[in-house]
Amino acid sequence: MILPIYIYGQPVLRKAAEDITPDYPNLKELIDNMFDTMDRAEGCGLAAPQVGLAIRVVVIDLDVLSDDYPQYKGYRRAFINPHIIEVGEETDSKDEGCLSLPGINEAVKRPTRIHVKYFDADWQEHDEWVDGFEARCMQHEFDHLEGKMFIDHLSGLRKQMIKGKLNNMLKGQVRCSYKTKTVK
Ligand code: NI
Repeated sequence: MILPIYIYGQPVLRKAAEDITPDYPNLKELIDNMFDTMDRAEGCGLAAPQVGLAIRVVVIDLDVLSDDYPQYKGYRRAFINPHIIEVGEETDSKDEGCLSLPGINEAVKRPTRIHVKYFDADWQEHDEWVDGFEARCMQHEFDHLEGKMFIDHLSGLRKQMIKGKLNNMLKGQVRCSYKTKTVK
């Protein structure tokens, strides 16, 4: 089932999300719905707050990059209760977008390597270092679980440049091809 995507201005996007337990109701269905919703919107990641739930669940699809990056072939994963434990010193800057911020793309500086802990969809625990697009995408999605969005990383000047677009979102004026839920 495709869910509406919550747009900038929705309070749930600014809440710290909570860890869940394996008995969380209909978790498998929620993860399926999040994959469907992400696919329909042609995103490569989606966090539960973006569908209105302040819980620590994320889906990521890097298979869409696998023509250029064969190591991501078949990479479609759910992350439950993910936490970033530490980050490497090296950083790089790459353009990011977000399904909750349609029409905004900006370069974001982030660490290139991160140490993460999470459970997969089968509740197997993982503890690993990741890098490259995987690390960037995880940081973007896991930020959502802290109530953060990628625009929070921008300089004052860049924030000023996108202010008009953000104000339009607050007024319920969004243009995108998928179902959304704005504050107005
Ligand atoms: Ni996002």
